[in-house]
Amino acid sequence: MSTRPRTPAPNTPAPGKLPVPELIEMKRRGEKIVMVTAYDAPGARLADAAGVDLILVGDTAAMVVLGHDSTVPVTVDEMLFLTKSVTRAARRPLVVGDLPFGSYQVSDESALENSIRFVKEAGADVVKLEGAGPMVSRARAIVEAGIPVMGHLGLTPQSATALGGFKAQGRTAEKARRMLEDALALEQAGCFALVLEAVPAPVAARITEALEIPTIGIGAGADTDGQVLVYHDMLGLYEGRSPRFVKQYADLAAETRRALEEYVADVRGGTFPEEQHTYSMPAEELEAFEVELAAARAEIAPQARQRPRAPR
Ligand code: KIV
Repeated sequence: MSTRPRTPAPNTPAPGKLPVPELIEMKRRGEKIVMVTAYDAPGARLADAAGVDLILVGDTAAMVVLGHDSTVPVTVDEMLFLTKSVTRAARRPLVVGDLPFGSYQVSDESALENSIRFVKEAGADVVKLEGAGPMVSRARAIVEAGIPVMGHLGLTPQSATALGGFKAQGRTAEKARRMLEDALALEQAGCFALVLEAVPAPVAARITEALEIPTIGIGAGADTDGQVLVYHDMLGLYEGRSPRFVKQYADLAAETRRALEEYVADVRGGTFPEEQHTYSMPAEELEAFEVELAAARAEIAPQARQRPRAPR
């Protein structure tokens, strides 16, 4: 019996891509998982080359890329545009498409429809959503359709107003207990990992111990299974105020500004471009060009003299 070559199923991981189940193995082996955000192809390429495991195309794009004051205004179409540029460049890291505010809160159906857009149109490997309660059912619906989901608890910036601002969460026994219950519910719903943002370190540690799936912390101490930072914060590219949990590894805003100021001075001072930045042409071609120009000028000049003047 002849066998036909099998067409890969849609949503099949590309060769070299970190498999989602490997993250649980990393947790079991005690290997830290590294995630960073990125919003364009150069950022994704650099993150991949640096060896990160996951790239989150976070809705922080609203603030660090699009100039909004919060993550709320960014739209699905804007997020898809950014996610596409990341998936074109990221080879090994899993690309997490962040579902923006309004794209999953209304119903399981709209959550699933928008998640499908992230996978089909933007090439995201997985999606992320914030919160628990009704969002547990959203997560389950997306997972059941075959799209892996990352949860996000603690400070969930899309509901910062309801939380009373960008504040640490889970700082009372009651709130910590509720967060643990939410984490277990998201795991039960099938989430493959959970972001814990701005959570006291001991609370994040207990949640991490209680879950089989890995936790990725941001402002959640050292005992989570992995860490995530926002690209612009860690590279010193965001000129707004960064949260206290950010470690800045470079000052690219200062370096970029220095370079731009030097460019401005070079252009104004006539020191750029130099010889090595310009193109030459054979001398005889230039000479021929000058002759043609002179002839053209000679032809145009008498015609211009004959042209009637416009009345004043
Ligand atoms: O949108 C984002 O960048 C995030 C991280 C802060 C985890 O959700």
